[in-house]
Amino acid sequence: MKAVYFLLCLALARDSAANIVRQQLRPQMDTLFVQPLVNQFQQTYQETKQQHQSESTSYESKESKEHLSFDDISDYPSLFQSGNRNWNSPVFSSYITKGDQIPYADTIEWQGVQIAAGPRSPVKSKKDVERIFRDAYKSMQHVSEDEKRMIHKTFEEIDQTTHEEVQYNATQLLKHHGYGVEEHIVKTDDGYLLTLFRVQPKESNEILGENKRPVVLLIHGILGSADDWLLMGPKKSLAYILSDAGYDVWLGNTRGNKYARHHASKHESHPDFWQFSMDEIALHDLPAMIDFALQTSEQEKLYYVGHSQGNTIFFALAATLPEYREKVAMMYALSPMVYMTHVRSPLIKMMAPNSQFYERLHEQLGHSEFKPSKEVIHTVGGNMCEKEIDCKHVCSNINFVMSGVDTADMDFDLIPSIVAHLPAGTSTRVIKQLGQAVVSHEFRKYDYGFKINKKIYGMRQPTKYDMTEVKVPVALYYSEEDWLAHPKDVERLHKELPDVKDFYKVPEKHFNHMDFQFSKKAPEVVYKRLVESMQNN
Ligand SMILES: *[C@@H]1O[C@H](CO)[C@@H](O)[C@H](O)[C@H]1NC(C)=O
Repeated sequence: MKAVYFLLCLALARDSAANIVRQQLRPQMDTLFVQPLVNQFQQTYQETKQQHQSESTSYESKESKEHLSFDDISDYPSLFQSGNRNWNSPVFSSYITKGDQIPYADTIEWQGVQIAAGPRSPVKSKKDVERIFRDAYKSMQHVSEDEKRMIHKTFEEIDQTTHEEVQYNATQLLKHHGYGVEEHIVKTDDGYLLTLFRVQPKESNEILGENKRPVVLLIHGILGSADDWLLMGPKKSLAYILSDAGYDVWLGNTRGNKYARHHASKHESHPDFWQFSMDEIALHDLPAMIDFALQTSEQEKLYYVGHSQGNTIFFALAATLPEYREKVAMMYALSPMVYMTHVRSPLIKMMAPNSQFYERLHEQLGHSEFKPSKEVIHTVGGNMCEKEIDCKHVCSNINFVMSGVDTADMDFDLIPSIVAHLPAGTSTRVIKQLGQAVVSHEFRKYDYGFKINKKIYGMRQPTKYDMTEVKVPVALYYSEEDWLAHPKDVERLHKELPDVKDFYKVPEKHFNHMDFQFSKKAPEVVYKRLVESMQNN
């Protein structure tokens, strides 16, 4: 009897060992991302290579040259067999970004979005894809083939002239344009070190008289930084306009962005550094920056201008700590992103805990910095963007892919600078918190799950931020095609806030989330109104 068991065990062990070996040799296809299938890949490799070679004489578009040639992957079998397959390696990524020239695995496609199909794929039908992308697709500008060609042409011209300025940090940008600047490091009560930029007036010898310049604090949006208020240059970007109008302009940075990556004891390379959501940004970073700007300028109150998440965190703070309501003379919210019920951004919809994409994306994104791979960016809308506007510079950038692209009012000369400065960094938890709001229909603290919520908040659900408590004069500026702050969600916010002085919808058809900072029309349709209101306040 024993011998029988022994043999049986032996057989089982052998079998499972064989399975393990087999599994290692077989590349495991990702269930979400579109990747070449090995067999199909091997079969079509020669064909595609020949085709590629015969085309190569006529095939001279600039973008195609950026990709690896087919010869670069001649060692592909070893890559598959090594067991350390890395789909982010340039070999695979170049395939994945090559569009329809690539032999793909089975896919489900909707308006240019391609998602892997197959038994283990979380996506079962076109409807699943459509549900995520439909709203974003509807509220975007669809450009013609002629316009696409124009965009390409503009880019080729830009590519030839590489400016050093494209990389400038906030200090360099301001100095370059003749403004002085102070760099301050502010430490939050939980140890993060944030850089605050203070803009010095352009005319340094200008006598300002006895009157102090009123303080304005500008807080950037999600995945942004202080740079965003400067990139368009003087007379166009808000920081210069406000400085020229006589304000003491401060540019803030929230933890995790490129100017806020130090901590008294945590290193940015360690996951501990990244364990924060918008709650910590709101309740630790903002108070530190507001207090510092007021103390340094010896003033009692300041004007606050937020873009995107810069508003979310302000409302969270003002709802929670009454003393900060007193410190703000007026709050200007450009694209007030608070309620997410009608959000159109595919990324945020996919990050909603009830979406079938959530598990896989969650796995991909991890628990530290939000740094989506090329495959993630493509899957959350990069490929739809490419199909629509056919511009890799824009469509490989997570800020554009998350917030949408408006080609009508875009200054194409500015794109190299935008993509060099964005994304500026945040935590994955911040993105997850936005996804949670899609399902909860509320503006709440971060949801850790029942067990931990109970310990932290004393109840199973996270604490709500009560918008009726935000007793601060507020101006809400929003727009029709904003993928992140949907007009319906902004209207709800408007109803709840107790003191809205101005509720203004930008009168432009294609004005979206990023346009509040980068559109050619922003100075005319947004900033002018804002500065006039501030001066009359
Ligand atoms: C900006 O760049 C300049 C020049 O490289 C450097 O001296 C300065 O420290 C930088 N400032 C910040 C805040 O990164």
